[in-house]
Amino acid sequence: MIDRLSRSLEGIKPSPIRSFGALARSTPGCISLTIGQPDFDTPEVIKQAAKDALDAGLTSYAENNGTLELREAISDYEKRHRGLDYTPEEVLVTIGASGALYTALKGMLDPGDELIVPTPAFNLYETIVSSCCGKFIPLDISSTGFQIDPERLEALVTPRTKGILINTPNNPTGCSLDRRSIEAVRDTALRHDLFVVTDDVYRELVYEEGSYFDIALFRELRDRLIVVQSFSKPYAMTGWRVGYLLADRPVLERLSQLAQCTVSCVSTFSQAACVKALSTDTSYMVESYHRRRDMALAMLEEIGLKAPRPDGAFYLFPNISEFGMSSEEFCRRMITEAGVAAVPGSCFGTEGYIRICYCVSERELREGIRRIGRFVSSLRG
Ligand SMILES: Cc1ncc(COP(=O)(O)O)c(C=O)c1O
Repeated sequence: MIDRLSRSLEGIKPSPIRSFGALARSTPGCISLTIGQPDFDTPEVIKQAAKDALDAGLTSYAENNGTLELREAISDYEKRHRGLDYTPEEVLVTIGASGALYTALKGMLDPGDELIVPTPAFNLYETIVSSCCGKFIPLDISSTGFQIDPERLEALVTPRTKGILINTPNNPTGCSLDRRSIEAVRDTALRHDLFVVTDDVYRELVYEEGSYFDIALFRELRDRLIVVQSFSKPYAMTGWRVGYLLADRPVLERLSQLAQCTVSCVSTFSQAACVKALSTDTSYMVESYHRRRDMALAMLEEIGLKAPRPDGAFYLFPNISEFGMSSEEFCRRMITEAGVAAVPGSCFGTEGYIRICYCVSERELREGIRRIGRFVSSLRG
């Protein structure tokens, strides 16, 4: 019966990131720098809030869009921390940012519609676009310092373009988009009546605030902007599966009808814990990632591998093009010959790079990069 399934499923591939993680796990002694998830446990106060919610009997369905308490807390948080004006009616609580992205893109794309995405990019975007029978249109920014060139962006727009999706700081580079890039997205979106989706899952993991330009502060984009956010990364809550999206009320109301088809509501007691998360200080996590970034970047420099300097998140994206092999071959050989795993740049649509995730212990990170150093020395002969 497989040939009777929807053709829209044909473009969906298993996550290549997970397959490299699996290869690392099955290789004895291998250090894995593959998985983009915090190595911290969820803070105790957040866990306690979930336990209290269970004890208080919060075990039934919540409102479709999320509990009023959480939507109010999100609205308030976004106002205080980012200066954004979204009422609780303009918040949709989702199953992680993944659920928010699916809702936003499925809600926007008709078959054949195009979505422009600066690459390298998180591979889920392409998968979702293909599940909507849309067209993923990459804008390669690796040759423009990982920033958007306004003319190149403009040149990709066609009558089928529906939106532009940005992710800043970015997975896999850790780089933030600068003012010129953000303004280019704004201008192109306004000129051609496009949606803008901003995947902000690393927004709270920015090391130097001055490096971050917030597209959501452009009021003129409000009716076309969809902000995607998650509790996964800033609060070390990847397994809780809660995120949200913010949008202008008419858009949000339509999207929330779509979300009802896949998720009638997000787990009620998880939402209670997320209310607590929004008032929990996790700056110690950001400080720790910042320290690890500095250490890893310095070690890569010593090895002679050039990587753009990350402004946030927990990834490094060194260039390996000097070795004249595909990033996939490089990573496979590095696992078997050096006992350290990274993710090929090809998984993010960009050859000639590998992604190193530094949310592992400092000891493992140091040893992992030493092994990368020995591997590249052996290749250089
Ligand atoms: C850029 C980006 N967006 C979205 C997600 C999905 O996050 P969530 O756990 O909230 O679904 C990830 C996870 O790695 C990510 O890196």
